[in-house]
Amino acid sequence: MIIKRLIVQNWRNFQHIDVQLSERQFIVGPHASGKSNLLDIFRFLREIAAGEGGFQKAVGARGGVSQIRCLSAGDDTDIALELHLAPNAAAAATWRYALGFCQVSPTLTHERVWHGDKLLLARPTAEDENTPERLTRSVLERNSDAAYRELTHFFQAITELQLSSKLRHFPDVIQEDTVERDANGQGVNGLLERIASVDEETRGSRLKTIEEGLILAVPQFAQLAFIRDSATGHPHLQARYSHWPPQAGWQREDRFSDGTLRLIGLLWALLESDSVLLLEEPEHSLNPEIVSQFAPLFFGMHTRIGGQVLVTTHSDVLMMEPGIDSSEVLMLAPTKTGTEVKAASDIDVVRRLLEEGLTAGEVVFSGNHPEHPERLGLLE
Ligand SMILES: Nc1ncnc2c1ncn2[C@@H]1O[C@H](COP(=O)(O)OP(=O)(O)O)[C@@H](O)[C@H]1O
Ligand SMILES: [Mg+2]
Repeated sequence: MIIKRLIVQNWRNFQHIDVQLSERQFIVGPHASGKSNLLDIFRFLREIAAGEGGFQKAVGARGGVSQIRCLSAGDDTDIALELHLAPNAAAAATWRYALGFCQVSPTLTHERVWHGDKLLLARPTAEDENTPERLTRSVLERNSDAAYRELTHFFQAITELQLSSKLRHFPDVIQEDTVERDANGQGVNGLLERIASVDEETRGSRLKTIEEGLILAVPQFAQLAFIRDSATGHPHLQARYSHWPPQAGWQREDRFSDGTLRLIGLLWALLESDSVLLLEEPEHSLNPEIVSQFAPLFFGMHTRIGGQVLVTTHSDVLMMEPGIDSSEVLMLAPTKTGTEVKAASDIDVVRRLLEEGLTAGEVVFSGNHPEHPERLGLLE
């Protein structure tokens, strides 16, 4: 299942968004245009669906409603999100979920669930009116609600590739269990735990695919293996390189390059599930030849099996693939009253250039450059 439409009111620097999303969606825009804020909407829903107290925690983690609400919100100051979910971008929505909330407590102003055309839930209900305290919680937090279980699971399954390079500079921290164990398995340790958590056969076959990828992408890379430390039992990855002498042995993941580690994380995330995958600027620490293969890779490894990739990027190389459709690109344009979001297919000049045979990478970044970047170098 994928998110095929997103409607937003007053979220961060967006007063209003109403866009269709495809299986593979690129999100581009200048610095501070709100790319991360846009992806954060999906993270927010995952946090709500994570369990008891989810809504309050998700709002709290963002510094409260006043931080989330768009600074240029109009008269209607509620924050509202609506998502339409479908098996693919061409299919009719199987689920619709809408949530509104405001400052008080913070409190839900509405929450609605549709399955197909059927409205299953419309809050506030009479019970909510009687016990207003109920409106501090979302129905997604209650895993017990069989009627919405598929919806809740969908939001819970939203994953994100976040290999913080900071962690990598403290290899002993990585190896010991002092590292925080994020429920969503972020960071290098989280990745190792996710790799460790699947059965041996699945792990073996995925790591084989990743090894093939690394052999193509990393010069001299020869072999990738999963092991558990004999003393601590902690999971590790190790690699061998073809130019090493035979006695050199294996190298553990704390010695991998940033790029190698990020590539392993990316490939694992693509293979791991058919859920929504959030990728923030996956081009980091990787050379352009590799990044240029990402667009077909997202398709071949993730969206083909029913998943969805939502990816922010500043990389024209990542968008060079001629197969990228103009509907697969969302363009963020800051205005005085907030950022506007449009599909490239809805912007005439962009669509025409793409139809003329230019690639998305050549077209969509032209308006994203700072006006006077050369002055940056003159600062003293
Ligand atoms: N509640 C809000 N209302 C308006 N703007 C906001 C709000 N919260 C954050 N922003 C703005 O969003 C911008 C950052 O967006 P971000 O998603 O990090 O950009 P990008 O990822 O495109 O670089 C900042 O300029 C910040 O001031
Ligand atoms: Mg960002």
